[in-house]
Order: sequence, then C-alpha cells, then structure tokens
Amino acid sequence: MFKNAASLLKHKATLAFTVGSLMLVGCSESQEKVPPKPAAAKSAKPAAPKKEAFSVKDGILTTNPGDSVAFEITSNDAMQYNLKEIHVQKGQKITLTLSHVGKMAKTVMGHNWVLLKKDVDVSAFATAAMSAQATAYIPADKKAEVLAHTDLIGGGEKSKITFEAPEPGEYIFLCTFPGHNAMMRGKFIVK
Ligand code: CO
Repeated sequence: MFKNAASLLKHKATLAFTVGSLMLVGCSESQEKVPPKPAAAKSAKPAAPKKEAFSVKDGILTTNPGDSVAFEITSNDAMQYNLKEIHVQKGQKITLTLSHVGKMAKTVMGHNWVLLKKDVDVSAFATAAMSAQATAYIPADKKAEVLAHTDLIGGGEKSKITFEAPEPGEYIFLCTFPGHNAMMRGKFIVK
C-alpha cells in the first residue's frame, strides 16, 4: 500500500514533468517565430544604391551634380569618338580618360582629346595642329587656346587627365591628328 502510494506519486511527478516539458517546447516554439522579423527587416532595408556620377544616352554624356566625376571617352580605328557631347557642371573636377580601342599605331591613327577655350577659331587651330607633329599636334604658338588635352595615343592605349570645368558655356573638343577633326569633334557644355 505504502509502496503503491509512492509509485503513484512518482507517476504523478513524471506526468507533471512531461507536461512541463511540453510547455517548454511550446514556449520555445513561439520564441522561434521572433527571429525571422529582424531578418525580414534586414532584407527590406538594402544598402542605398550607389548613385552613378554620370549617364550616357545617344552619345551624350551628362554628369550628375557633385564635386568630382570620372568618365571615359573612347576612340577607334574608324576615326570616331563614342561621344558627340559631354555635359558637365560648373566647377566640377573632371577626370577624363581617352581610350583608343582600335589596333592602329598612333603614327597612322593617332587620337587625342583637346578641349579648346571659348571663341577659339577651331579651323585655324586644327590647321596649325597639322604641322605640329613635333609637339604631338598641339601647336606651340596656340597652346594658350587649349583648356585641357590628353596625350596622343595609338591602338590599345589610354591617356588620363584631370581638370576643372570652366565657366558655363559651350566649348569644342576635337582630335588634332591631321585630318581627324572633321569627324572627331564634339561639344563640351558646362552648365
Ligand atoms: Co584622331
């Protein structure tokens, strides 16, 4: 009898323990539903997309507002730039890379990127440049008419320059290699 009572108590204790364990399981199960919230919040808050410093559409490159901007203009064996216009903001620090994506040597298909000051006689400059082979087609007596220029490069080469955007207005850029400026000429517009 005594023995039976003890075993009954033991049985009750086991039952209580089992119920307690089930409650614990139930409790931990409801807690497991909490973590997904921070995970969802994390994916709903992605890193702010990096703003591009410029955009290109229909051969026109336009920079976004900002202290500085870097971009590339390409040139090829067909005597062409990939850009016909470049629009920048007043005072911007511009890092421009001219890339020659062709294969021809610079003695045959040389390219540069020359930005002229406002109101320069472009034809007169280009004509003078033709006989300025010794100075890579930048005529020494007209250097004052140049705002910025890259080196003369051949196929596979690049030339990088940095300059500050001049006062607002419309400027001309061109390649001064003999005979190229008719095709390799574009507008540089400062707003
Ligand atoms: Co050229």
